[in-house]
Amino acid sequence: MFHMGWFLSFNVSSWNDTWSGNSGTEWMQAERYVEMARSLERAGFDYMMLEDGSFIPDVYKGTTEHSLRSGLVPKHDPMALVSTIGQATSNIGLICTITTSFYPPFLAARALVTLDHLTNGRVGANLVTAHNQRTAQNYGLDEHYEHDLRYDMADEWVQVVQALWDSWDSDALVLDESTGVFADHTKVRHINFEGKYFRSRGPLNTVPGPQGRPVICQAGGSPAGQAFAARHADTIVAQVGSVAAMKAFREEISRLMVLAGRDPGDCKVLYMISPILADTDEDAQEKRRRIDAARQRNVEGALSTMSFSSGVDFSQFDLDGPMPQIVTNNAKSTTALYTEGQGAKTLREVATAPMPTSVDLVGSPATVAALMGEAMEEAGGDGYLISLPVNRRTVAEVADGLAPQLRKRGLTRDGYSYTNLRDTLREF
Ligand SMILES: Cc1cc2nc3c(=O)[nH]c(=O)nc-3n(C[C@H](O)[C@H](O)[C@H](O)COP(=O)(O)O)c2cc1C
Repeated sequence: MFHMGWFLSFNVSSWNDTWSGNSGTEWMQAERYVEMARSLERAGFDYMMLEDGSFIPDVYKGTTEHSLRSGLVPKHDPMALVSTIGQATSNIGLICTITTSFYPPFLAARALVTLDHLTNGRVGANLVTAHNQRTAQNYGLDEHYEHDLRYDMADEWVQVVQALWDSWDSDALVLDESTGVFADHTKVRHINFEGKYFRSRGPLNTVPGPQGRPVICQAGGSPAGQAFAARHADTIVAQVGSVAAMKAFREEISRLMVLAGRDPGDCKVLYMISPILADTDEDAQEKRRRIDAARQRNVEGALSTMSFSSGVDFSQFDLDGPMPQIVTNNAKSTTALYTEGQGAKTLREVATAPMPTSVDLVGSPATVAALMGEAMEEAGGDGYLISLPVNRRTVAEVADGLAPQLRKRGLTRDGYSYTNLRDTLREF
Protein backbone atom coordinates (compact mmCIF):
# COMPACT_ATOMS: atom_id res chain seq x y z
CA MET A 1 0.00 0.00 0.00
CA PHE A 2 1.09 3.57 -0.48
CA HIS A 3 0.17 6.98 0.91
CA MET A 4 -1.53 9.83 -0.91
CA GLY A 5 -1.28 13.60 -0.53
CA TRP A 6 -2.41 16.65 -2.52
CA PHE A 7 -0.14 19.63 -3.08
CA LEU A 8 -1.94 22.95 -3.36
CA SER A 9 -1.64 26.65 -2.78
CA PHE A 10 -4.02 29.00 -1.02
CA ASN A 11 -4.32 30.90 -4.28
CA VAL A 12 -6.65 31.19 -7.25
CA SER A 13 -5.06 28.10 -8.92
CA SER A 14 -7.62 27.70 -11.69
CA TRP A 15 -9.78 30.73 -12.45
CA ASN A 16 -10.10 31.07 -16.19
CA ASP A 17 -10.69 27.48 -17.26
CA THR A 18 -13.82 25.72 -18.43
CA TRP A 19 -14.30 24.00 -15.07
CA SER A 20 -13.04 26.61 -12.63
CA GLY A 21 -16.48 27.88 -11.60
CA ASN A 22 -16.31 31.15 -9.70
CA SER A 23 -12.80 30.58 -8.38
CA GLY A 24 -11.69 34.08 -9.37
CA THR A 25 -13.81 35.57 -6.62
CA GLU A 26 -14.21 32.56 -4.32
CA TRP A 27 -10.67 31.21 -3.88
CA MET A 28 -10.06 33.30 -0.80
CA GLN A 29 -13.07 31.77 1.00
CA ALA A 30 -12.71 28.52 2.95
CA GLU A 31 -15.62 26.65 1.35
CA ARG A 32 -13.87 25.13 -1.66
CA TYR A 33 -10.94 23.86 0.43
CA VAL A 34 -13.32 22.42 3.00
CA GLU A 35 -15.24 20.61 0.23
CA MET A 36 -11.94 19.42 -1.21
CA ALA A 37 -10.70 18.15 2.16
CA ARG A 38 -13.92 16.21 2.70
CA SER A 39 -13.57 14.64 -0.74
CA LEU A 40 -9.96 13.70 -0.10
CA GLU A 41 -10.89 12.27 3.26
CA ARG A 42 -13.51 10.15 1.52
CA ALA A 43 -10.68 9.03 -0.78
CA GLY A 44 -8.41 8.10 2.17
CA PHE A 45 -5.72 10.72 1.59
CA ASP A 46 -3.07 11.08 4.29
CA TYR A 47 -2.72 14.82 3.90
CA MET A 48 -3.17 18.07 2.05
CA MET A 49 0.05 20.02 1.74
CA LEU A 50 -0.38 23.78 1.43
CA GLU A 51 2.68 25.39 -0.09
CA ASP A 52 3.49 29.04 0.54
CA GLY A 53 5.71 31.99 -0.29
CA SER A 54 5.84 35.68 0.64
CA PHE A 55 6.51 37.64 -2.51
CA ILE A 56 5.26 38.53 -5.98
CA PRO A 57 7.79 37.27 -8.56
CA ASP A 58 9.31 39.99 -10.70
CA VAL A 59 12.44 38.31 -12.08
CA TYR A 60 10.92 37.59 -15.50
CA LYS A 61 11.45 40.75 -17.59
CA GLY A 62 12.19 42.58 -14.31
CA THR A 63 8.51 43.23 -13.61
CA THR A 64 5.54 41.78 -11.71
CA GLU A 65 3.44 42.13 -14.87
CA HIS A 66 3.37 38.49 -15.91
CA SER A 67 2.87 37.23 -12.35
CA LEU A 68 -0.11 39.49 -11.76
CA ARG A 69 -1.66 39.11 -15.21
CA SER A 70 -1.64 35.32 -14.87
CA GLY A 71 -3.18 35.57 -11.39
CA LEU A 72 -1.36 32.61 -9.91
CA VAL A 73 0.71 34.61 -7.50
CA PRO A 74 -1.45 36.29 -4.86
CA LYS A 75 -1.36 33.88 -1.96
CA HIS A 76 -3.01 33.87 1.44
CA ASP A 77 -1.60 32.49 4.65
CA PRO A 78 -2.21 28.70 4.85
CA MET A 79 -2.00 28.54 8.66
CA ALA A 80 -5.36 30.26 9.03
CA LEU A 81 -6.89 27.96 6.42
CA VAL A 82 -5.63 24.83 8.16
CA SER A 83 -7.52 25.85 11.26
CA THR A 84 -10.78 26.23 9.33
CA ILE A 85 -10.42 22.97 7.38
CA GLY A 86 -9.62 21.22 10.65
CA GLN A 87 -13.06 22.07 12.01
CA ALA A 88 -14.84 20.44 9.07
CA THR A 89 -12.82 17.20 8.85
CA SER A 90 -11.68 14.49 11.21
CA ASN A 91 -8.89 12.37 9.70
CA ILE A 92 -6.99 14.04 6.91
CA GLY A 93 -3.61 15.58 7.83
CA LEU A 94 -3.16 19.30 7.19
CA ILE A 95 0.36 20.47 6.40
CA CYS A 96 1.10 24.17 6.09
CA THR A 97 4.34 25.69 4.84
CA ILE A 98 6.57 27.75 7.12
CA THR A 99 9.92 29.26 6.28
CA THR A 100 12.72 28.57 8.73
CA SER A 101 14.69 31.54 7.37
CA PHE A 102 12.20 34.16 8.49
CA TYR A 103 9.57 32.75 10.84
CA PRO A 104 10.76 33.20 14.43
CA PRO A 105 11.04 29.75 16.06
CA PHE A 106 9.04 30.70 19.14
CA LEU A 107 6.10 31.97 17.06
CA ALA A 108 6.21 28.87 14.87
CA ALA A 109 6.38 26.44 17.81
CA ARG A 110 3.45 28.18 19.47
CA ALA A 111 1.29 28.46 16.34
CA LEU A 112 1.85 24.81 15.44
CA VAL A 113 0.91 23.51 18.88
CA THR A 114 -2.19 25.68 18.79
CA LEU A 115 -3.10 24.21 15.39
CA ASP A 116 -2.32 20.71 16.61
CA HIS A 117 -4.98 21.15 19.30
CA LEU A 118 -7.47 22.74 16.92
CA THR A 119 -7.10 19.84 14.45
CA ASN A 120 -6.95 17.07 17.08
CA GLY A 121 -3.39 16.12 16.19
CA ARG A 122 -3.49 16.42 12.42
CA VAL A 123 -1.16 19.33 11.75
CA GLY A 124 2.20 19.29 10.02
CA ALA A 125 4.69 21.95 8.96
CA ASN A 126 6.38 21.90 5.57
CA LEU A 127 9.70 23.52 6.44
CA VAL A 128 11.22 25.48 3.59
CA THR A 129 14.22 27.76 3.63
CA ALA A 130 12.54 30.13 1.10
CA HIS A 131 14.48 30.28 -2.12
CA ASN A 132 13.72 33.75 -3.31
CA GLN A 133 15.62 36.99 -3.05
CA ARG A 134 12.36 38.96 -2.92
CA THR A 135 11.17 36.99 0.10
CA ALA A 136 14.42 37.89 1.86
CA GLN A 137 13.88 41.55 0.99
CA ASN A 138 10.30 41.47 2.25
CA TYR A 139 11.67 40.27 5.59
CA GLY A 140 14.31 42.98 5.76
CA LEU A 141 17.47 41.54 4.17
CA ASP A 142 19.27 42.97 1.13
CA GLU A 143 20.43 39.56 -0.06
CA HIS A 144 19.12 36.11 0.84
CA TYR A 145 21.39 33.87 2.92
CA GLU A 146 23.60 31.52 0.89
CA HIS A 147 21.88 28.22 -0.06
CA ASP A 148 23.63 25.78 2.31
CA LEU A 149 23.79 28.32 5.13
CA ARG A 150 19.97 28.45 4.95
CA TYR A 151 19.85 24.71 5.68
CA ASP A 152 22.34 25.15 8.53
CA MET A 153 20.05 27.76 10.04
CA ALA A 154 17.04 25.53 9.41
CA ASP A 155 18.72 22.76 11.35
CA GLU A 156 19.17 24.98 14.38
CA TRP A 157 15.66 26.37 13.93
CA VAL A 158 14.23 22.86 14.26
CA GLN A 159 16.30 22.24 17.38
CA VAL A 160 14.87 25.35 19.07
CA VAL A 161 11.31 24.56 18.03
CA GLN A 162 11.59 20.97 19.23
CA ALA A 163 13.14 22.07 22.52
CA LEU A 164 10.19 24.42 22.96
CA TRP A 165 7.71 21.63 22.18
CA ASP A 166 9.50 19.49 24.76
CA SER A 167 9.58 22.27 27.38
CA TRP A 168 6.43 20.79 28.91
CA ASP A 169 6.46 17.17 30.07
CA SER A 170 3.51 15.24 28.71
CA ASP A 171 2.13 14.89 32.27
CA ALA A 172 2.67 18.53 33.27
CA LEU A 173 -1.02 19.26 32.94
CA VAL A 174 -2.44 18.03 36.25
CA LEU A 175 -6.00 19.35 36.40
CA ASP A 176 -6.37 18.11 40.00
CA GLU A 177 -9.72 19.46 41.13
CA SER A 178 -9.17 18.47 44.79
CA THR A 179 -5.99 20.54 45.16
CA GLY A 180 -6.85 23.12 42.52
CA VAL A 181 -3.58 22.50 40.65
CA PHE A 182 -3.84 23.16 36.95
CA ALA A 183 -0.24 22.43 35.90
CA ASP A 184 2.86 21.19 37.73
CA HIS A 185 5.44 23.95 37.37
CA THR A 186 8.32 21.51 38.01
CA LYS A 187 7.46 19.80 34.73
CA VAL A 188 7.64 22.96 32.66
CA ARG A 189 11.19 24.15 31.93
CA HIS A 190 13.19 26.99 30.44
CA ILE A 191 15.13 25.84 27.43
CA ASN A 192 17.78 28.59 27.53
CA PHE A 193 18.72 27.83 23.93
CA GLU A 194 21.85 29.68 22.80
CA GLY A 195 22.72 28.82 19.22
CA LYS A 196 24.67 30.35 16.40
CA TYR A 197 21.56 31.86 14.80
CA PHE A 198 18.77 31.67 17.37
CA ARG A 199 18.24 32.19 21.08
CA SER A 200 15.17 31.42 23.14
CA ARG A 201 14.52 31.24 26.86
CA GLY A 202 11.28 29.26 26.88
CA PRO A 203 9.22 27.53 28.07
CA LEU A 204 6.42 27.62 25.55
CA ASN A 205 3.22 29.08 26.95
CA THR A 206 1.00 26.45 25.31
CA VAL A 207 0.07 23.03 26.67
CA PRO A 208 1.46 20.02 24.75
CA GLY A 209 -0.52 19.13 21.63
CA PRO A 210 -1.97 15.70 20.77
CA GLN A 211 1.08 14.79 18.66
CA GLY A 212 3.64 16.19 21.13
CA ARG A 213 5.75 17.28 18.21
CA PRO A 214 3.70 18.19 15.13
CA VAL A 215 4.67 16.39 11.92
CA ILE A 216 7.57 17.80 9.89
CA CYS A 217 7.46 17.73 6.12
CA GLN A 218 10.29 18.79 3.80
CA ALA A 219 10.67 19.51 0.09
CA GLY A 220 14.29 20.37 -0.67
CA GLY A 221 16.03 18.08 -3.14
CA SER A 222 19.64 19.33 -3.03
CA PRO A 223 22.21 17.39 -0.95
CA ALA A 224 21.82 19.93 1.87
CA GLY A 225 18.02 19.70 1.60
CA GLN A 226 18.05 15.91 1.65
CA ALA A 227 20.39 15.77 4.64
CA PHE A 228 18.14 18.19 6.53
CA ALA A 229 15.07 16.12 5.67
CA ALA A 230 16.79 12.88 6.69
CA ARG A 231 17.47 14.34 10.13
CA HIS A 232 14.03 15.76 10.81
CA ALA A 233 11.24 14.92 8.38
CA ASP A 234 8.29 12.59 8.95
CA THR A 235 7.43 12.98 5.28
CA ILE A 236 9.20 14.33 2.20
CA VAL A 237 7.58 15.67 -0.94
CA ALA A 238 9.83 15.21 -3.95
CA GLN A 239 9.76 16.24 -7.58
CA VAL A 240 11.93 13.95 -9.71
CA GLY A 241 12.00 13.08 -13.39
CA SER A 242 11.71 9.28 -13.64
CA VAL A 243 10.90 6.06 -11.82
CA ALA A 244 14.65 5.37 -11.57
CA ALA A 245 15.08 8.79 -9.91
CA MET A 246 12.27 7.96 -7.47
CA LYS A 247 14.12 4.80 -6.47
CA ALA A 248 17.44 6.63 -6.14
CA PHE A 249 15.84 9.40 -4.08
CA ARG A 250 14.27 6.93 -1.63
CA GLU A 251 17.52 4.98 -1.32
CA GLU A 252 19.51 8.13 -0.63
CA ILE A 253 17.06 9.30 2.03
CA SER A 254 17.15 5.86 3.68
CA ARG A 255 20.96 5.94 3.67
CA LEU A 256 21.05 9.43 5.19
CA MET A 257 18.44 8.50 7.80
CA VAL A 258 20.50 5.53 8.96
CA LEU A 259 23.54 7.82 9.22
CA ALA A 260 21.41 10.18 11.32
CA GLY A 261 20.43 7.28 13.60
CA ARG A 262 16.84 7.09 12.36
CA ASP A 263 14.68 4.25 11.09
CA PRO A 264 14.05 4.87 7.35
CA GLY A 265 10.47 3.67 7.82
CA ASP A 266 9.78 6.76 9.95
CA CYS A 267 9.85 9.09 6.95
CA LYS A 268 7.48 8.69 4.00
CA VAL A 269 8.63 10.00 0.62
CA LEU A 270 5.77 11.12 -1.64
CA TYR A 271 6.43 11.92 -5.32
CA MET A 272 4.68 14.68 -7.16
CA ILE A 273 2.46 13.58 -10.05
CA SER A 274 -0.03 15.34 -12.31
CA PRO A 275 -2.21 12.58 -13.78
CA ILE A 276 -4.26 13.31 -16.88
CA LEU A 277 -7.55 11.51 -16.24
CA ALA A 278 -10.57 10.99 -18.48
CA ASP A 279 -13.35 8.45 -19.04
CA THR A 280 -11.29 6.33 -21.42
CA ASP A 281 -7.62 6.04 -22.37
CA GLU A 282 -8.40 7.60 -25.77
CA ASP A 283 -10.16 10.57 -24.14
CA ALA A 284 -7.17 11.03 -21.84
CA GLN A 285 -4.73 11.02 -24.79
CA GLU A 286 -6.89 13.64 -26.51
CA LYS A 287 -6.89 15.70 -23.32
CA ARG A 288 -3.13 15.47 -23.21
CA ARG A 289 -2.89 16.74 -26.80
CA ARG A 290 -4.94 19.78 -25.78
CA ILE A 291 -2.76 20.38 -22.71
CA ASP A 292 0.40 20.07 -24.84
CA ALA A 293 -0.99 22.46 -27.44
CA ALA A 294 -1.86 24.99 -24.74
CA ARG A 295 1.71 24.73 -23.43
CA GLN A 296 3.10 25.40 -26.91
CA ARG A 297 1.08 28.63 -26.95
CA ASN A 298 2.24 29.65 -23.49
CA VAL A 299 6.03 29.86 -23.77
CA GLU A 300 5.89 32.94 -21.60
CA GLY A 301 4.31 30.99 -18.73
CA ALA A 302 7.15 28.45 -18.83
CA LEU A 303 9.86 31.12 -19.00
CA SER A 304 8.31 32.93 -16.07
CA THR A 305 8.20 29.69 -14.01
CA MET A 306 11.87 29.01 -14.82
CA SER A 307 12.76 32.58 -13.85
CA PHE A 308 10.81 32.13 -10.61
CA SER A 309 12.63 29.03 -9.40
CA SER A 310 16.11 29.99 -10.66
CA GLY A 311 16.05 33.74 -9.96
CA VAL A 312 17.50 34.26 -13.47
CA ASP A 313 15.53 36.30 -16.03
CA PHE A 314 14.90 33.88 -18.90
CA SER A 315 13.56 36.65 -21.14
CA GLN A 316 17.20 37.66 -21.80
CA PHE A 317 18.02 34.45 -23.74
CA ASP A 318 17.45 33.64 -27.40
CA LEU A 319 14.50 31.24 -27.53
CA ASP A 320 16.07 29.38 -30.45
CA GLY A 321 19.57 29.38 -28.98
CA PRO A 322 20.99 26.57 -26.81
CA MET A 323 19.43 25.98 -23.41
CA PRO A 324 21.44 28.22 -21.03
CA GLN A 325 23.26 26.59 -18.13
CA ILE A 326 22.33 28.30 -14.88
CA VAL A 327 24.09 28.69 -11.54
CA THR A 328 21.59 29.58 -8.82
CA ASN A 329 21.36 30.38 -5.13
CA ASN A 330 17.60 29.81 -5.37
CA ALA A 331 15.88 26.43 -5.70
CA LYS A 332 18.79 24.28 -6.86
CA SER A 333 17.11 20.93 -7.39
CA THR A 334 14.00 22.40 -9.03
CA THR A 335 16.16 24.41 -11.43
CA ALA A 336 18.25 21.32 -12.20
CA LEU A 337 15.06 19.48 -13.23
CA TYR A 338 14.76 21.55 -16.39
CA THR A 339 18.38 22.61 -17.00
CA GLU A 340 20.53 19.54 -16.38
CA GLY A 341 21.33 17.41 -19.38
CA GLN A 342 19.37 19.70 -21.71
CA GLY A 343 22.43 21.32 -23.36
CA ALA A 344 21.60 19.88 -26.77
CA LYS A 345 18.12 21.42 -26.82
CA THR A 346 17.04 24.98 -27.52
CA LEU A 347 15.39 27.06 -24.82
CA ARG A 348 12.12 26.93 -26.79
CA GLU A 349 12.22 23.13 -26.86
CA VAL A 350 12.74 22.94 -23.11
CA ALA A 351 10.11 25.62 -22.39
CA THR A 352 7.43 23.93 -24.46
CA ALA A 353 8.17 20.39 -23.28
CA PRO A 354 6.15 18.94 -20.40
CA MET A 355 7.79 19.44 -17.00
CA PRO A 356 9.73 16.25 -16.14
CA THR A 357 7.59 14.02 -13.97
CA SER A 358 8.35 10.89 -11.98
CA VAL A 359 5.66 8.80 -13.73
CA ASP A 360 3.85 9.72 -16.90
CA LEU A 361 0.19 9.12 -16.04
CA VAL A 362 -2.39 9.47 -18.80
CA GLY A 363 -5.53 7.35 -19.04
CA SER A 364 -8.76 6.24 -17.47
CA PRO A 365 -8.79 6.02 -13.66
CA ALA A 366 -8.28 2.25 -13.93
CA THR A 367 -5.27 2.60 -16.23
CA VAL A 368 -3.66 5.34 -14.15
CA ALA A 369 -4.22 3.42 -10.89
CA ALA A 370 -2.50 0.36 -12.38
CA LEU A 371 0.44 2.46 -13.61
CA MET A 372 0.82 4.07 -10.20
CA GLY A 373 0.94 0.65 -8.58
CA GLU A 374 3.58 -0.66 -11.00
CA ALA A 375 5.81 2.41 -10.65
CA MET A 376 5.66 2.36 -6.86
CA GLU A 377 6.48 -1.32 -6.82
CA GLU A 378 9.59 -0.59 -8.88
CA ALA A 379 10.62 2.58 -7.03
CA GLY A 380 10.10 1.31 -3.50
CA GLY A 381 8.76 4.71 -2.44
CA ASP A 382 5.95 5.48 -0.08
CA GLY A 383 3.34 7.34 -2.07
CA TYR A 384 2.26 10.13 -4.36
CA LEU A 385 1.48 13.80 -4.07
CA ILE A 386 -1.13 15.03 -6.54
CA SER A 387 -0.43 18.38 -8.15
CA LEU A 388 -3.28 19.60 -10.36
CA PRO A 389 -5.13 22.88 -10.71
CA VAL A 390 -7.71 22.89 -7.92
CA ASN A 391 -11.33 22.93 -9.06
CA ARG A 392 -14.31 20.73 -8.33
CA ARG A 393 -13.73 18.71 -11.48
CA THR A 394 -10.10 17.79 -10.79
CA VAL A 395 -10.96 16.98 -7.18
CA ALA A 396 -13.80 14.68 -8.33
CA GLU A 397 -11.58 13.02 -10.97
CA VAL A 398 -9.11 12.09 -8.25
CA ALA A 399 -11.34 11.51 -5.23
CA ASP A 400 -14.20 9.75 -7.00
CA GLY A 401 -12.50 8.39 -10.13
CA LEU A 402 -8.90 7.49 -9.34
CA ALA A 403 -9.12 6.79 -5.58
CA PRO A 404 -11.72 3.99 -5.82
CA GLN A 405 -9.56 2.30 -8.47
CA LEU A 406 -6.50 2.51 -6.25
CA ARG A 407 -8.49 1.10 -3.37
CA LYS A 408 -9.91 -1.71 -5.48
CA ARG A 409 -6.36 -2.83 -6.22
CA GLY A 410 -5.47 -2.73 -2.52
CA LEU A 411 -2.96 0.06 -3.21
CA THR A 412 -4.31 2.67 -0.79
CA ARG A 413 -6.00 2.71 2.58
CA ASP A 414 -9.65 1.83 2.99
CA GLY A 415 -10.47 4.29 5.80
CA TYR A 416 -8.39 5.54 8.69
CA SER A 417 -7.21 3.73 11.81
CA TYR A 418 -5.91 6.85 13.60
CA THR A 419 -6.86 10.48 14.03
CA ASN A 420 -3.32 11.72 14.48
CA LEU A 421 -1.25 12.45 11.38
CA ARG A 422 2.03 10.86 12.49
CA ASP A 423 0.25 7.60 13.34
CA THR A 424 -1.56 7.69 9.99
CA LEU A 425 1.76 8.10 8.21
CA ARG A 426 3.38 5.28 10.14
CA GLU A 427 0.48 2.86 9.77
CA PHE A 428 2.26 1.18 6.84
C1 LIG B 1 6.71 19.38 -3.80
C2 LIG B 1 7.45 20.64 -3.45
C3 LIG B 1 6.83 21.61 -2.67
C4 LIG B 1 7.50 22.80 -2.35
N1 LIG B 1 6.88 23.76 -1.60
C5 LIG B 1 7.50 24.92 -1.35
C6 LIG B 1 6.86 25.96 -0.64
O1 LIG B 1 5.72 25.84 -0.25
N2 LIG B 1 7.53 27.12 -0.43
C7 LIG B 1 8.82 27.30 -0.86
O2 LIG B 1 9.38 28.36 -0.62
N3 LIG B 1 9.46 26.32 -1.53
C8 LIG B 1 8.82 25.17 -1.79
N4 LIG B 1 9.44 24.20 -2.50
C9 LIG B 1 10.83 24.43 -2.90
C10 LIG B 1 11.75 23.77 -1.93
O3 LIG B 1 11.62 24.28 -0.64
C11 LIG B 1 13.17 23.96 -2.36
O4 LIG B 1 13.52 25.31 -2.38
C12 LIG B 1 13.36 23.40 -3.72
O5 LIG B 1 12.83 22.10 -3.78
C13 LIG B 1 14.81 23.35 -4.03
O6 LIG B 1 15.42 22.68 -3.00
P1 LIG B 1 16.94 22.73 -2.85
O7 LIG B 1 17.31 24.17 -2.80
O8 LIG B 1 17.25 21.95 -1.61
O9 LIG B 1 17.41 22.08 -4.08
C14 LIG B 1 8.81 23.01 -2.83
C15 LIG B 1 9.43 22.02 -3.60
C16 LIG B 1 8.76 20.85 -3.91
C17 LIG B 1 9.45 19.82 -4.75
